[in-house]
Amino acid sequence: MTDVRDAPTTTSPISTRKHGDVLIVLSNNPPVNALSTAVRQGLVDAIEQAEADDSVHAVVITCEGNTFFAGADITEFGKPPQQPWLPAVVDRIEACTKPVVAAIHGTALGGGLEVALSCHYRVAVPSAKMGTPEVKLGLLPGAGGTQRLPRVAGVRKALEMCATGNPIGAKEGFACGLIDRLIEEDDLIPHAVGYAEEVRDVRPLPKSSEREYKINECDPSVFDDFLKENARRFRGFEAPLKNVEAVKLACSRPYAEGAIEERKMFMELMTGQQSAAQRYFFFAERKANKIEGLPENTEPRPIHRVGVIGAGTMGGGISMNFLSAGIPVTIVEMGQEALDRGTGLMRKNYEATASKGRMTAEQVEKAMGYLQPTLDFAALADCDLIIEAVYENMDVKKEVFGRLDKIAKPGAILASNTSYLNINEIAASISRPADVVGMHFFSPANVMKLLEVVRGDKTAPDVLLTAMGLGKKIRKVPVVAGVCHGFIGNRMLMPRQIEATKLLLEGATPEQVDRVHVDFGMPMGPFQMADLAGVDIGWHRDPNRVENVRDALCAIDRWGQKKGAGFYDYDERRRPTPSPVVQQIIEDFAKKQGVERREISDQEIVERTLYTMINEGAKILEEGIAQRASDIDVVWVYGYGWPVYRGGPMFWADSEGLAKIVDGLNRQEARMRSDFSFSKLLLNKAENGEKFTS
Ligand code: 3HC
Repeated sequence: MTDVRDAPTTTSPISTRKHGDVLIVLSNNPPVNALSTAVRQGLVDAIEQAEADDSVHAVVITCEGNTFFAGADITEFGKPPQQPWLPAVVDRIEACTKPVVAAIHGTALGGGLEVALSCHYRVAVPSAKMGTPEVKLGLLPGAGGTQRLPRVAGVRKALEMCATGNPIGAKEGFACGLIDRLIEEDDLIPHAVGYAEEVRDVRPLPKSSEREYKINECDPSVFDDFLKENARRFRGFEAPLKNVEAVKLACSRPYAEGAIEERKMFMELMTGQQSAAQRYFFFAERKANKIEGLPENTEPRPIHRVGVIGAGTMGGGISMNFLSAGIPVTIVEMGQEALDRGTGLMRKNYEATASKGRMTAEQVEKAMGYLQPTLDFAALADCDLIIEAVYENMDVKKEVFGRLDKIAKPGAILASNTSYLNINEIAASISRPADVVGMHFFSPANVMKLLEVVRGDKTAPDVLLTAMGLGKKIRKVPVVAGVCHGFIGNRMLMPRQIEATKLLLEGATPEQVDRVHVDFGMPMGPFQMADLAGVDIGWHRDPNRVENVRDALCAIDRWGQKKGAGFYDYDERRRPTPSPVVQQIIEDFAKKQGVERREISDQEIVERTLYTMINEGAKILEEGIAQRASDIDVVWVYGYGWPVYRGGPMFWADSEGLAKIVDGLNRQEARMRSDFSFSKLLLNKAENGEKFTS
């Protein structure tokens, strides 16, 4: 067989060539073969060509590059739609009078999977993945996907795929009937052509839209069960519920009617605020990876071994990220007991993952095999990157960096996991400040996706590039931050916490403040978060020095969930209830400080806690601490669970209108902390009717 990839190219992203009596339709639309207008038109033309040519008896649709069609072209969303529309394209493919085979490698996603579903047959290499990630963009598959997928793969599988957006592998696709044949890697097109030849005379053509048995045998309780199982995960989101509704329609209506309803729901979601926020966030996340002001030709430094100082919760979690990615780690502790405890916990965490079926026992051993635990600081000498995760204190950090300065090899990157401290001051204390960078992981470090990469004044460009690239390699979402107290995320947390605590004295309860945040879509409110993280974090540890509510709680051992008591009381299953003790402490403090208590409205809580965060975000932007507003949004969605359907704090502020934010802050200014000040950027933008994110 000739190499069909030598096909002549045309100006259209779709080219065709014949192999025997099979027409091969090849898409070449980098980087991900998105289904742009030209691709859609090319597909229709190719099907017309196949039908018009009597010498063609079957068709294979496939793609060049890394992937099969990864979906509709998201950059076209929100613009006037161009013909031919995808639903018409897929219907045209299915209506072809000659068998059409989709040959899949990489990822068949969204509209890409809908194209595959409209083909009469689907073959794939084992590494291929299929999915309907539209829900992650606040959408549902809008080109027949919710109607064809349950008919082909079964209702339960379709529900899972559409409502969660998680892809499945080709082997799973084969098992559920989505894929008709698995084909050896690297041999896709010739075998797909062979398959097309095998089925060329089979009639009637198997059309996904006409398959009934999988939807007929569906148990109607599947929908409620599925929603119950996922209630927490879907809280606040519109799209998952619409996806479920659409799949349900497939079971109760003929295909054509279901497809019309699907389209209506798709358009409803597309024009809604949640999808706008989620589509914005898709690009925000990708933009965060781009570093501004980096000299051209900057190359990353090679990283073969990572050193981690400290085997506590943080050091252990950080190490696991590298081990999971196959990067050897030397982990150093001061005492054998702490070292054993730390490595033991890492193993336990891996084993817990394995027990949930998300890792095999071999993978656990493989990951742990990359770990070299030691008490010998000098063992860090052969590491290319060393991250310290020691006690959060400037003197302690400087001491560690001083020792590293003596033993680290030339060119090694020296990183601090500090969450607040000044990276410039740490860098200035050693002889190689250009090698110093902040790598701020969020706890639990093996789980949380966010990584703030802190660029010091002297950090070398290649050091920054390496840290960002490595972040991606260990499957984090890295965001560049400048040096300031708390960087992007924690700095914005501070004004929120201050106002939340002030509100307690003025008459709000912890439950009310937390409820407002949870209703907004946050996973938890400020006091639930304090209880989870530990009320004692940063406490001066003197029970006789009681200057605020937090000191009072710490003084009586109410350190949060770990002690069974904090802002709330906890039962043995860590379920919270409001605490009369805490209420009394709050009221006593209010009295002592002469604060008049009053009824606090939910709106005031929003304005004083969330609007102040926006103000701080604007300062972060005007000071150049964040490269762009969307980076702040990425930090808050991945680091603190800001609801992605609100895009992130800066996008949310834009959608509320910046004038409204300024009005709210003006209304509250007299009640807020005395050192509150407006961001000039926020005021200017509000006055000029501008936005942060566009
Ligand atoms: N449309 C337009 N651009 C897209 C795109 C799409 N569907 N998918 C990816 N891109 C762009 C990215 O923005 C990025 O651009 P950049 O280089 O300028 O930043 C570039 O392609 C590469 O993307 P990634 O950095 O994400 O590359 P990866 O290799 O890490 O991942 C991928 C590849 C798994 C395909 C991932 O890009 C992805 O998940 N894409 C989105 C898939 C998706 O959501 N499809 C559904 C679209 S909605 C739809 O189909 C509606 C239909 O039902 C009607």
